[in-house]
Order: sequence, then structure tokens, then C-alpha cells
Amino acid sequence: MKDKTQLLVSAIKNGTVIDHIPAKHLFKVINILGLDKIESQITFGTNLSSDKLGSKAIIKISDLYFEDQDINRIALVAPHAQLNIIKDYEVVEKKKVAVPDEIVGIAKCMNPKCITNAESVVTKFTVLSKSDVSLRCHYCEKITDQDHIKMYSS
Ligand code: CTP
Ligand code: ZN
Repeated sequence: MKDKTQLLVSAIKNGTVIDHIPAKHLFKVINILGLDKIESQITFGTNLSSDKLGSKAIIKISDLYFEDQDINRIALVAPHAQLNIIKDYEVVEKKKVAVPDEIVGIAKCMNPKCITNAESVVTKFTVLSKSDVSLRCHYCEKITDQDHIKMYSS
């Protein structure tokens, strides 16, 4: 049993805890959610040991709750992320992020010759795999895999 006073990153009173983020994608998650532009108190830990991921990151955002469609944007880089909704120090809800079937915008096509990289065309992908995310570009049909996904900064 873990003691709540023994958390590696301090407990929060109210807000959202995003757990099980692959450590190498922490800054992508921060960027996708625009956390660099908000006023809420944010704490994070990274390179924490995780049985599932090897090395994980966790982000705690005080006094902020996300809409599903906004939070699901991180599924591209953190498909196993777990959301914990905290109210008055208690976890009142746990949710998993869900990878959508189609991604519009957010990610760049990795094909340098793709029209989306030459002109201001909004990217559009079909999600071929949701666990180890792979995306097929609607325009050039090239596949962009998990390790090559680059995001437009929001
Ligand atoms: N947490 C927090 N502040 C609180 C309560 C919980 O920051 N007041 C965090 C914990 O640090 C943990 C996450 O919210 O990272 C989920 O809390 P809890 O369900 O108590 O932990 P676990 O059982 O370890 O969660 P799981 O195994 O589902 O990841
Ligand atoms: Zn393309």
C-alpha cells in the first residue's frame, strides 16, 4: 500500500493528474496541451520507474479539467496515459485516453515531399494502429510511425 504522503511528486488538492506518459514524450504532451501557456500550477516528474513503460513521466495540473476531445490529442504520443481527476485530494475518476480513428491537424506528415509540408494544407491521417500509433497520410499515403510523429505547436 502506498502512503499518500510518500508520493514522488506531491499530491494536489484539485485538478488533473496525467500518469503513464512515456518519459521521452513528456515535452510533446506539454506542447500538445499548451501547458506552457497556462497560469495553473503544474508539477511534473520524469524518468520515474514504471513496470509497464520502463520509464514514465507524470504531470499534475492544479485546478484544471480537460474536455475529452482535448485530452485525447495526447494519445498520439502517450497512448497509455491515464487521467486521474482529483477533487479535495481524492481520485474521483480515472480515465484512459483514446486514440481517435482519424487525426486532423496536430501531427505533421513525415514525408518531406508531402503537399502538407509545402503548402498550408491541414494534415489528415487515418489511424492504422492505436497501440503503437501509426498514421497514414490522406494526401501522400505515406506512413508516419510513433517515433517520427512531430506535432505542430499549438
Ligand atoms: N494523486 C495526486 N494527488 C492526489 C491524489 C492522487 O497527485 N490528491 C496522483 C497519484 O500520485 C497518482 C495518481 O494521482 O499518480 C492516481 O492516484 P491513485 O489512484 O491513488 O494511485 P494508483 O493507485 O497508484 O494509481 P494507478 O495504479 O491507477 O496509476
Ligand atoms: Zn503526407
